[in-house]
Amino acid sequence: MKRNQNFLLMISCAVVMFNACKSKSTANGAAGQDTTSSAEQKLPDSASFSADVQGKKVGLFTLKNKNNTTVLITNYGGRLVSLVVPDKSGKPTDVILGYDSLKGYQKPKEPYFGAIIGRYGNRIAKGKFSLDGKAYQLDINDGVNTLHGGFNGFYGKVFSAKQLNAQELELTYVSKDGEDGYPGNLSVTVLYSLSDDNALKIEYKATTDKKTIVNLTNHAYFNLNGAGSKTILDNLVQINANAFLPVDTTLIPTGKLQPVKGTPFDFTKFKTIGADIDTTDEQLKNGKGYDHNFVVNKHDANTPVAIVNSAATGIIMEVYTDEPGLQFYSGNFLTGATNDGKGGKAYGHRSAFCMETQHFPDAPNQPAFASTVLKPGETYHTITVYKFSSK
Ligand code: BGC
Repeated sequence: MKRNQNFLLMISCAVVMFNACKSKSTANGAAGQDTTSSAEQKLPDSASFSADVQGKKVGLFTLKNKNNTTVLITNYGGRLVSLVVPDKSGKPTDVILGYDSLKGYQKPKEPYFGAIIGRYGNRIAKGKFSLDGKAYQLDINDGVNTLHGGFNGFYGKVFSAKQLNAQELELTYVSKDGEDGYPGNLSVTVLYSLSDDNALKIEYKATTDKKTIVNLTNHAYFNLNGAGSKTILDNLVQINANAFLPVDTTLIPTGKLQPVKGTPFDFTKFKTIGADIDTTDEQLKNGKGYDHNFVVNKHDANTPVAIVNSAATGIIMEVYTDEPGLQFYSGNFLTGATNDGKGGKAYGHRSAFCMETQHFPDAPNQPAFASTVLKPGETYHTITVYKFSSK
């Protein structure tokens, strides 16, 4: 399963596309936001992440470029802890949700903030799949299905970390044959690199010694108004997808590809996340908002699959990938019940969104979907870029 390796980004066209929509952004984006918070916020410190877990050292690593764009990553779950980019006035703004210490990430039912997700990102129906006639049973950790690898997915594993230089961190993890129910010893490498033009690239590689399935992604929760701001409903989104995957009430794709045209899922032109989210619609009801995989029109890694911007901060995020699917999740299950987010913030309902690049959910059981099977001798290789600018 060789994935696209040629990754020359054509960023300028995306910026032009954004400019064309900027006037709309001002018109739609102003209501109900709280942007006071994040800039003054103190960043998590490394002492609060220093621990021995699973017999390995956990720490906090920093990537920084010449613009002072800063990315904090812990090797516990390979998690992005902070991503600080300049807003339109140059003010450093942390745009992802997370915790000030390792303890936050170890809480039960923690919502996968910033985590590397594996072995299989998203859902597998009833946790079952077969390879060469052999049936495998995974953890049932989300209603009747497996979600994000199971009870002990990569989000809770300690990766080995190697800081290659000020802008690159390499994480590795070997998932043993049978771990969490998946076959094969799977060797995984995740390379985080921050470029001087404020692009955070995540490059995933994996090999196996037995036929297996794999679908890795990152579960960063973004709020371009600044993490801890009340809502993302005013963030403007464009998703370059003419179809999405409708789901059943347990969020497993039905197998159909549904055109977005004429539905609340049409983000082919910029609109706010909130514009149609409360429309009466069976799919929005199933997802309790957006929690669906979009079938991206192009996944050549040169064309953004999605662009998001905040009128309040002027921060623009472009997403590039070679993956065929984009899970757009509007933070429907965030409750804001506790003030334990970074800087004592409560992360309320729909106060962040996720753009998880991946193969389609439940692909191991849906032969019409692109395969997620990895065989010995092959290298799983996929790249996603989140690129930031402001205007
Ligand atoms: C899923 C949501 C789930 C969330 C957990 C997303 O990837 O699509 O259904 O609730 O992860 O944080």
